Amino acid sequence: MSENRRLWGGRFGEPVDPVLDRFTSSFVFDRVLAPHDLVASLAHARMLRERGIVSAADGEQILLGLSGMLHDLEAGALRVEGGDEDVHTWIERLLTERIGDAARRLHTARSRNDQTAVALRLLVRARLLDLHGAVESLAGALVASAGSHLETFLPGYTHLQRGQPVSLAHHLLAHFWFLDADAARLERAFEGAGSSPLGAGALAGTVHPIDPSRSAALLGLVPFRNSMHAVADRDYVVEASFACALLLVHLSRWAEEVVLWTSREFGFARLADSVAKGSSIMPQKKNPEAAEVLRGKSGRVLGDLVAHLVQLKGIPLTYNSDLQEDKEALFDALDTAAGGVAAAESLLRGLRFDEERMRAALRGGFLTATDLADGLVRRGMAFRDAHECAGRAVRRAEERSVELWELGLDELREYCPSADADLLRSLDPEASVRAHASPGGPAPGRCAEQLGAARAALDARGSWRQAQAPPPIYRAHLEGTLLEEL
Ligand code: ARG
Repeated sequence: MSENRRLWGGRFGEPVDPVLDRFTSSFVFDRVLAPHDLVASLAHARMLRERGIVSAADGEQILLGLSGMLHDLEAGALRVEGGDEDVHTWIERLLTERIGDAARRLHTARSRNDQTAVALRLLVRARLLDLHGAVESLAGALVASAGSHLETFLPGYTHLQRGQPVSLAHHLLAHFWFLDADAARLERAFEGAGSSPLGAGALAGTVHPIDPSRSAALLGLVPFRNSMHAVADRDYVVEASFACALLLVHLSRWAEEVVLWTSREFGFARLADSVAKGSSIMPQKKNPEAAEVLRGKSGRVLGDLVAHLVQLKGIPLTYNSDLQEDKEALFDALDTAAGGVAAAESLLRGLRFDEERMRAALRGGFLTATDLADGLVRRGMAFRDAHECAGRAVRRAEERSVELWELGLDELREYCPSADADLLRSLDPEASVRAHASPGGPAPGRCAEQLGAARAALDARGSWRQAQAPPPIYRAHLEGTLLEEL
């Protein structure tokens, strides 16, 4: 392997140890920063030129050179490869090959410490926006499915024991609200990555008359306040990773339900062949492997989050090379979250609910014992006494192997003296769901209301995403106006 090319060397008299050279190089993983670094470099160059720190002629060459590289990269005509120490070194080398000596002025008033941090922030923001869109798509699919199951009834569970009857719409919407909170967290993580460290230099700013608020504005960011904080800060990495980790935890909980529901024991759903897998030995098997992998991947992303926190906890201000390790775990968290959300949507679309099995499961678990107690309360009894009476009725029904509503009125009155025919009718599971019409409850009318709120939330998230414009300097690159008034 050829020796890595680097941006330093004047004070070194010996070649670098090749083992350590490989060990400390970040180029194998930080090359994905290339387009973001090019955009940030455009903003830096433009600011240098506006402030007269580089000449108009050199500035023009640098801007057009960087823009040409970005164009070629996006067109697939340029590959980020070579023996460079990192992506920043690669960019400067290539720019020098393309435009010559003017490129040697680009790094004025800049360090790789502020350079890598600003590029990473731009990458984080771009990836969070994509992820936000994917979450919205999955959340929209949940809402659509919920809309057709307002009157599909099944048990709701606590302790994985049948608790009270609910509707499938209510259950699916519960998952929707987790995703809506995830989308809100992605928005906050996006805001958290919104300040620009450009102009912080290595750690102490610079003697040149720079304007960090100008380079920040060209990137759609706000400027840093403290140059030491700016190069040492990786909170945005932690926040983005946390948003990914919790999103995956939510998908994992849903995936666990897919595994349970598609088991023969539950039978609440079947998987379309296209979203299941078979066994190499057991010919009959149809396994929910995508759901299991989703559960497993959430563990990886939790590890990524913890890796960042552990890396940060012991390092003194300001930049230390431990920070170079922020990238792989972050990219893994972002990639895994994107893959997981897309997989969850495919899986959801391949899930076929078995309404009969759900309805059948409403029997046998005395799911309306709480309705019995509440009925007695509405007839004047204190809840604690009503709970006791209903409990005795359950024991009797269990002994006789009948449902609560199959106990005769006379028999019920032995435990619950105020019981009447209306109360008996209220013990039917469907009647129970309809009667649970408190705000946010499972009654079809309340769920319809909730669907409206969910759709409004989806719209608001969509509008937020639409409002996030690309960095002004990137638009200027696309429109060929980098040398004009911006
Ligand atoms: N590759 C480095 C990173 O990812 C860039 C910053 C290097 N700075 C330095 N002083 N060695 O963090």
